[in-house]
Formats: sequence, structure tokens, C-alpha cells
Amino acid sequence: MATDQLAVITGASSGIGYELARCCASGGYDLVICADEPEIEEAAAKLRALDTKVDAVQADLATMEGVDKLLVVIGPRPVDALLANAGRGLGHAFLDQDFDEARKLVDLNITGTIALVHRVGRGMRERNQGRILITGSIAGFMPGSFQAVYNGTKAFLDNFSMALRNELKDTDVTVTCLMPGPTETDFFERADMEDTKFGKSEKADPADVARKGYEAMMAGKSGVVTGFMNKVQTAFAGIIPDTVLAEMHRRMAEPDGKG
Ligand SMILES: NC(=O)c1ccc[n+]([C@@H]2O[C@H](COP(=O)([O-])OP(=O)(O)OC[C@H]3O[C@@H](n4cnc5c(N)ncnc54)[C@H](OP(=O)(O)O)[C@@H]3O)[C@@H](O)[C@H]2O)c1
Repeated sequence: MATDQLAVITGASSGIGYELARCCASGGYDLVICADEPEIEEAAAKLRALDTKVDAVQADLATMEGVDKLLVVIGPRPVDALLANAGRGLGHAFLDQDFDEARKLVDLNITGTIALVHRVGRGMRERNQGRILITGSIAGFMPGSFQAVYNGTKAFLDNFSMALRNELKDTDVTVTCLMPGPTETDFFERADMEDTKFGKSEKADPADVARKGYEAMMAGKSGVVTGFMNKVQTAFAGIIPDTVLAEMHRRMAEPDGKG
């Protein structure tokens, strides 16, 4: 189903982002996909096999140079859907983390995301047309002991998405926040969290998570928390004191060797 519309998906080499790109391909979008490592070309090859036009960009979206590199490849083409999904986690106690790693996490999850949304979003507002999907997380609803910086970045994104959506309410540009719970991707290994209850727990299928996010974006919804238990958890997060939530998070995210 060709639509001649363009979707830009970041973090599309694996996990939720790759599955979001597959959803966009099935929806008939041409794709610009981006990730930091050469594996983005392998993802592009698999997506092209679905009879989809794909441009792949290898760029570090934790840097302004990386964001600009992606924007150059997009060029003057109007972006119909922006799926700002690239992100990383970082486990362990904050004071035990390498500060450069923590800073890069903020640069990628927050600064790189809003820089891209700012540039692409202005074009959408001018044309009065577009869909933005931001991958936040249910992690944004609770203080993330032993993953403190990550949960802070996701609290930012969950909050930012809702605010931007409100600012654009008189336009035909929609902003949707995808808020998954633990999902079976490379995320926990990359965050050095395999030795935690989160790391060892049963997780959602990234294809299911992505499909729910894509459908919510296409329906112009404000957001979607994927999975029944995650919906229950986020509902309770509004009632349970933050001190208790922080302790609950510690039990899930503290490395087993230290708990
Ligand atoms: N898995 C979960 O439990 C979970 C739950 C809630 C929310 N999320 C969110 O879902 C999103 C996708 O994560 P995932 O679970 O699918 O993990 P993933 O498989 O590790 O995917 C992360 C993607 O982001 C890309 N990326 C990482 N650093 C980058 C950088 N500096 N510049 C450009 N791209 C970069 C990765 O590409 P490279 O390999 O090239 O770096 C990869 O394509 C993230 O925002 C994450 O916070 C995940």
C-alpha cells in the first residue's frame, strides 16, 4: 500500500524501533531510519525486502552533529510521521556510574530527542499536518533507584510529550507517547542490568509493543501504556508515595549480587 508519505524512525536497528519501522512499512510509508551502529544497514536491507523505500543513516543522536546528519538525509522532504524512539538505559547506583555515560544518556534520551522534534515539528506545524510518536516509558512514573538517570529522562519525555501535544491542539499535528514496560530487547544487556530482577523477568514482545504504539499514533491518541499489568502499575503510581515507589524500584533494579 504505497502512500508516498515519509516516516522517520530513530533507534530502528533493533528492538521496539525496528518493529515500529516494520509497522510504518506495512502502512505504506517510505522510511528514513537511524541508529548509531552499522547494523542499521542490516535493518534497512530487511525492510527493503518488504518492498519499502528505505534510507538508512548511521548517526550518533546524542550529538548535534548526529541530529544534523539525519536532517541532511531527510532533506527538504516533508516528514509525515516522526517516531523518536532512540534511547538507552543505564543500571547501577548513580554514584557508581561513569558520569560520561550518564551524561550521554541525557544527551541521547532528552537532548537528541527534543532537538529532532523541534526541527521536524516546525515543518509539521507549518504544513498543519503530521504525527509524532515519542517513546517514553512507564519508568517515567516512578523514581528509578539503581536506574535513576534513565527514569528521570523518561519522566521528562512522558511529560514533554503531553505538553507539546497540548501546545499543538489547534493544529492537525498530533503527539503520542508510547509508554512500554519491560520489553524483550537488547535494552537490559546494554544497560548492564541483566543481573537484576528486571533483567531476568518475563518481558513483552517488542512487535506487540510497537504495534500498539503505531496504532495509537495513527489514531492521534495522547499516549499508550502497553500491557495490562503496566496499566495497573501506572494507575497505582499516582497513589503510592514516591518513597515506597523508589523502594519497589530498588528491588527490581538493584544488581542481585548487592541485594
Ligand atoms: N526494552 C524495554 O524494556 C523498554 C521499556 C520502555 C521503554 N523503552 C524505550 O524503547 C526505546 C527503544 O529501546 P529498545 O528496548 O528497543 O532497545 P534496543 O533494542 O537497545 O534499541 C535501542 C535503539 O536505539 C539506538 N541507539 C542507541 N544509542 C544511540 C545513539 N547514540 N544514536 C542513535 N541511535 C542510538 C540503537 O542503535 P545502536 O545499536 O546503533 O546504538 C537501537 O536501534 C528506548 O527509548 C527505550 O528507552 C524500552
